Amino acid sequence: MKVLVATEKPFAKKAVDGIKEIIEGAGLELVLLEKYTDKAQLLEAVADVEGIIIRSDKITAEVIAAAKNLKIVVRAGAGYDNVDLAAATERGVVVMNTPGQNSNAVAELALGMMVYMARNQFNPGTGSELQGKTLAIHAYGNVGRLVGLKGKALGMNVIAYDPFITDEAVFERDGVKKMNSVAELYAAADYLSLHIPATAETKGSIGYELAMSMPKGATLVNTARKEVINEEGLMKAMEEREDLKYITDVAPEMKDAYAEKFGKRYFGTPKKMGAETAEANINAGLAAARQTVGYLKEGITKFQVNK
Ligand code: 3PG
Repeated sequence: MKVLVATEKPFAKKAVDGIKEIIEGAGLELVLLEKYTDKAQLLEAVADVEGIIIRSDKITAEVIAAAKNLKIVVRAGAGYDNVDLAAATERGVVVMNTPGQNSNAVAELALGMMVYMARNQFNPGTGSELQGKTLAIHAYGNVGRLVGLKGKALGMNVIAYDPFITDEAVFERDGVKKMNSVAELYAAADYLSLHIPATAETKGSIGYELAMSMPKGATLVNTARKEVINEEGLMKAMEEREDLKYITDVAPEMKDAYAEKFGKRYFGTPKKMGAETAEANINAGLAAARQTVGYLKEGITKFQVNK
């Protein structure tokens, strides 16, 4: 049986070595497709594999149709909006993610981004401190929680909202204040850190009104997905309010216009780098390899997302 690791943005070498050891140690064959530039390369590579391990690589219905022997896709990471779940389910293909494995890397980047904006993108001039400011976490999952805990260590006042967590105790145990609505959260946020997935409900949901409701001098930090932002709406708010700032690890479609209009009030990383640490690559890559082997050899379906 063959397992393809298809990564347009490759894992660190140590992670690839570890994945190889796990796959080959289980008597499976590893096929590596890195830094591919064309969808045709992916379509060709999937033709005879039983398993696929990916990062943000797009597993569309076309890819699934081209992978005649496919049994499992593991997204080495958290968000699986890049996999056509309906097409996979229809073909009986199991899809998994590796929750939590790269969370720390993303959380550290989110805090680093806050410091970067508070200090004028490391340009001369008087900046401000994170201590004493209100850090609002939008969605309190693996990454959101780590951002909150790290923010608390920096002396920030941490508040959070998560529509799927109704149990106050989840927030209380971390000393984080539970907010009752998105509106309440944004209205109190000096720093708003986004950790919502891109779904039909969340796409385009962060725009003009929420941005306008944020306190004076607020910064929106996006290490989640570009799709959750209503780019025109946020732009309008930033035009009307010269105190608002936006920093993102998932560059907007309108990135050139944002950079041109907002100067030091906007920053976008050239390529998503939240999970780009050796540690995160190893954690997520090896977990993906173990889960792939676990399913192909023993039928283990833990972490399946299309049940
Ligand atoms: C995730 O969903 O896990 C992160 O966005 C990381 O994505 P990446 O593997 O493309 O870096």
